[in-house]
Amino acid sequence: MRATPVPEFMLEPAFDPAGSGRDPIGASAAATKGLNIRHGTILTLEDINVSFDGFKALTNLTLYIGVGELRCIIGPNGAGKTTMMDVITGKTRPDNGVAYFGETLDLTQMSEVEIAQSGIGRKFQKPTVFEALSVFENLELAQKTNKSVWASLRAKLSGEQRDRIDEVLQTIKLDASRSRPAGLLSHGQKQFLEIGMLLVQDPQLLLLDEPVAGMTDAETEFTAELFKSLARKHSLMVVEHDMGFVGSIADHVTVLHQGSVLAEGSLEQVQADERVIEVYLGR
Ligand SMILES: Nc1ncnc2c1ncn2[C@@H]1O[C@H](COP(=O)(O)OP(=O)(O)O)[C@@H](O)[C@H]1O
Ligand SMILES: [Mg+2]
Repeated sequence: MRATPVPEFMLEPAFDPAGSGRDPIGASAAATKGLNIRHGTILTLEDINVSFDGFKALTNLTLYIGVGELRCIIGPNGAGKTTMMDVITGKTRPDNGVAYFGETLDLTQMSEVEIAQSGIGRKFQKPTVFEALSVFENLELAQKTNKSVWASLRAKLSGEQRDRIDEVLQTIKLDASRSRPAGLLSHGQKQFLEIGMLLVQDPQLLLLDEPVAGMTDAETEFTAELFKSLARKHSLMVVEHDMGFVGSIADHVTVLHQGSVLAEGSLEQVQADERVIEVYLGR
C-alpha cells in the first residue's frame, strides 16, 4: 500500500492549529511565526530519492506528518530510516523530490544549521552530552547554541530562559540531578538529558532515532510517557524497533522497506499486513 496523498488523520481537525498552546518563550516563538502550517501538515516528503554510488537508499519516498502527531517509523535494518532523517535535517541532499517543513520552508534549499534553527530537533542514537559539565550546564549550552533572534535579546530573556531550563528539568525528571556532572548519569538519564537539550530549543518537530535502545524497562516506560506528553505541543517522528514501546505510544505507524513506504496505519493494521510480516515482523 502506497501512502495516500492525504492521509485520513489530516482530514480530521484533531490537531491544534498553528501556534496554539505553544510556549511563547524562545526559539519556537520565532520559528512559529515563520512556519506556515495552516493545512495541518508539519512535514511533507514527496518522491524523495537518495542514492549512494548507485545504491538506492530511498526510492520515491512519500510521507506526511501532521501537526502535533506522534509517528513511529519501523522497518528492517537498511530500510532507509536514518537516511530519511538525514534528508529532513539537511545532512544528506536528495537526488530529487520534495521536502517541506510547514507550507513554505524548502528543506532541500536550507543548510543543516538553518533547518535546526527553523525548529527541527534531532536526537541521534548515541547520547552526546558533555560529561564533565553539569546537567544544568548541558541544558544551558544547548539553549545558547540556538542563535535565534530571541537569543540576541538575552539580557531580557535570561530569566525566562532559566525558567524554561527549570521546566525542562522537571519534564525529563532530572531536577534532583541538576548539579551532577552528566558523566555520572545512567545511560537512560543521559538519553533524557539529550532530549532535554532539544526541548530547551523548543523545536516544533522532533526526530528521535531508536530512543529506547539500551534502556531499562522503567526508563522505556518513562520515555513512552514523556513522548506522549510532548505530542500535540510538538510533532514527533520516532524510529524504534521495540514493538512494545511502539504499541504504547503510536497514533500512526509507517513501515519503511527498501527506501519506500511499505505500509501505514495503526500498529495493529500494519502488523496484520502480509507484506510487513514477510519483510520484517515475521522474521
Ligand atoms: N553515507 C552512506 N554511504 C553509502 N551507503 C549508505 C550511506 N548511508 C546509508 N547507506 C546505505 O543506505 C541504506 C539505508 O541505510 P539507513 O538509512 O542507515 O537504514 P536504517 O536506518 O533503516 O537501518 C543501507 O543499505 C546503508 O548501507
Ligand atoms: Mg538507522
